[in-house]
Amino acid sequence: MTTIKDVARLAGVSVATVSRAMNNSGYVGAESRRKIEVAIAELNFYPNEVARSLYQKKSKFVGLLLPDISNPFFPLLAKGVEDKMNQMGYQLILGNVQENMEKEKEYLKTFAQNNVAGVLSAINGGINKLGGIPFVMLDRVADEEEYGVHSNDFQGGQLAATAIAERNPHEIVVLVGPRNVPGSLERLRGIEEVLHARKRTYQLLETSSFQFDATKETTSELFARFPKVDSVIASNDVHALAILQEALRRGIKIPEELQIIGYDDIPFSKMLFPSLATISQPAYEIGYQGAELLCDRIEDNYIKEKMIQLPVKLEVRESLRKKEIE
Ligand code: RIB
Repeated sequence: MTTIKDVARLAGVSVATVSRAMNNSGYVGAESRRKIEVAIAELNFYPNEVARSLYQKKSKFVGLLLPDISNPFFPLLAKGVEDKMNQMGYQLILGNVQENMEKEKEYLKTFAQNNVAGVLSAINGGINKLGGIPFVMLDRVADEEEYGVHSNDFQGGQLAATAIAERNPHEIVVLVGPRNVPGSLERLRGIEEVLHARKRTYQLLETSSFQFDATKETTSELFARFPKVDSVIASNDVHALAILQEALRRGIKIPEELQIIGYDDIPFSKMLFPSLATISQPAYEIGYQGAELLCDRIEDNYIKEKMIQLPVKLEVRESLRKKEIE
């Protein structure tokens, strides 16, 4: 592998001169700089970023931890992070934890070994911060966190429950997201506040995960335990789409016999027929603003708002019945 010594030898200058030229740190004569650039091109030399970052003590890498890259919500969030980080000259090292805490530890070790400048994490709770490295939590932000960007899950629960309650429900089933995810409990709080206020009875169906591989079990349990269900408030779009598909397979009419609302507004939700009503989370913005916040932490800038909460909105689509006339 070509090293900085090879470049110095070919250019006829010292290693220190090459290092100054590459890090724009200190004086380098025009002729020496030209020779160095020619030598780098001829040898096709790329500096070892980790070594450079250790020398400069300013890494251009940032770690991003996600719980489940197969859920379309997270690539949207990652795109927001990447767009902002690339603008600021950083490269991402992505860790897809797949809700496996052992993998989380492995990725945190990788981040430390690559001398990352900071970490953005959408992993719910329990994360062991890397001593001294700036962290910003995304989306799944526990109360004790100091820096984070997430959306208003309580408002989302209220909007979802109101949308169902206004459309002549008889047997409501609420899918409760994994209770170790902060947003699940906040959404449930919003849902229950509205249903209690409107004196609507409902059933709770606990789910163990937001992931695709949990949808089969949830869907089977829903129709087995609640055969008369006619309104579902789902924990996320992935589960809502699985229920929609099973209902259509069973010949259940959507939304006449079964209306469903999801949560997230992943791209597929508006592409299907019937299209899925949902609560739209600003996933891209959560990522983008989280990256902005992390850059401010890395560069020790003044931070006006350490914890940012973004609004959500209701997307009414074909999986909901018409509102009752007031
Ligand atoms: O669908 C994945 C869920 O986990 C989303 O609702 C998002 O908020 C994340 O926490």
